[in-house]
Amino acid sequence: MSSNLDTLYRQVIMDHYKNPRNRGEFDGDTVTVNMNNPTCGDRIQIQMKVEDGEVTDAKFVGEGCSISLASASMMTQAIKGLKLNEAVEMSQIFSDMMLGKEYDDERFDLGDIEALQGVAKFPARIKCATLAWKAMEKGINDHQ
Ligand code: FES
Repeated sequence: MSSNLDTLYRQVIMDHYKNPRNRGEFDGDTVTVNMNNPTCGDRIQIQMKVEDGEVTDAKFVGEGCSISLASASMMTQAIKGLKLNEAVEMSQIFSDMMLGKEYDDERFDLGDIEALQGVAKFPARIKCATLAWKAMEKGINDHQ
C-alpha cells in the first residue's frame, strides 16, 4: 500500500472515531446485542431496527479503541437498507478483508470500510475491527 493511501485511510478511520455516525441508542423495539472483545474487555452494543427482513436503521454505543469504534461507525452506516442476509454477507466479506484474503469488493459499495484493510497486517487488532460486525451477525442470527 502506498504511504499516501495509508495516510488517507488513517484519516478516514480517525474521522469515524472522532465524529462517529449512529452513536446512541434507540427507544422501543430493536434487535440489540452486546459483545465484548475478550482480548481487551472492551464492550460494544449494536442496535438494529428491522422491518420486513431489512435493517432500516442501526446505532451503537460502547467503549473501545479507535479501530473498534470507527469500525462500528462504518458498519452501522453500511448496513442500513440491507436485507438481513445481505448484512451477514457483508460481514463475511469484511472478515475476509481482515484475514488478508481476497475479498469481493464488487458485491457491495464498501466505501470507507476499505480504509480498515490495513488492520489485516496487525493480527492483535483484527478483533477490534471485527467486534461490531460479529455483534451485528449475532444479533441477526439470534433474531432469525
Ligand atoms: Fe479493545 Fe480495540 S483495544 S477493542
